[in-house]
Amino acid sequence: PATESKRLRIAMQKSGRLSVDSQALFTSCGLKINLREQRLIAHVENMDIDILRVRDDDIPGLVMDGVCDLGIVGENVLEEESLQRQLDNDSFDYTVLKRLDFGGCRLSIAVPQEDEYRGPASLDGKTIATTYPRLLGRYLKQQGVNARVVNLKGSVEVAPRAGLADAICDLVSTGATLEANGLKEVDVIYRSKAVLIQRKELTDSKQLKLIDKLMPRINGVMQANE
Ligand code: PRP
Ligand code: ZN
Ligand code: MG
Repeated sequence: PATESKRLRIAMQKSGRLSVDSQALFTSCGLKINLREQRLIAHVENMDIDILRVRDDDIPGLVMDGVCDLGIVGENVLEEESLQRQLDNDSFDYTVLKRLDFGGCRLSIAVPQEDEYRGPASLDGKTIATTYPRLLGRYLKQQGVNARVVNLKGSVEVAPRAGLADAICDLVSTGATLEANGLKEVDVIYRSKAVLIQRKELTDSKQLKLIDKLMPRINGVMQANE
């Protein structure tokens, strides 16, 4: 509907590592969101903003394609999507408005605890399972390593035990997942935090004003957290 078209659309992760902190940031910024509402779109009661709750992997594309105006997403997911779109010759434009103070994690290579690892060359001829084939591919290329990359959308950490791969490349936060699966972190290939991104060519003056109003609040919340 035309009357709703000017509401600012912000994409956030529906459930996962970033969702609680994203929601808390919105609340701290004064956005009144119905927290119990488990729907895809949550209307902000006191501002012309809609919150879209989606899978984190979908957020970069939604912003790059201009379907959402803003999004909170991990740099790892954002960089993976950008690399993929470069390879596909698709557009991957966006602006980073703010690097946030949550969602910190690293994308790391991990191997079975009993395995010997003497640097990236140890991966030559091996099979590596990951949800981030482009980031891993770039790293392997930089290191001059020839490895087979297996793309898994989930349960990457069980791949070695299941005989699907020799190593994995996955996100590590506390390290508990690796530990629980008998794996050890041997190389960090990318460090990530959550970022607030904006689509390119956002020109609606009402929306721009809303963003101008939000940014000092976000900065204020972050300073208070320091
Ligand atoms: C990542 C990763 C591990 C976990 C690692 O998953 O795939 O499962 O976090 O965290 P830890 O070191 O604290 O144990 P994520 O939360 O991104 O969810 P997803 O795998 O469903 O995308
Ligand atoms: Zn995900
Ligand atoms: Mg996981």
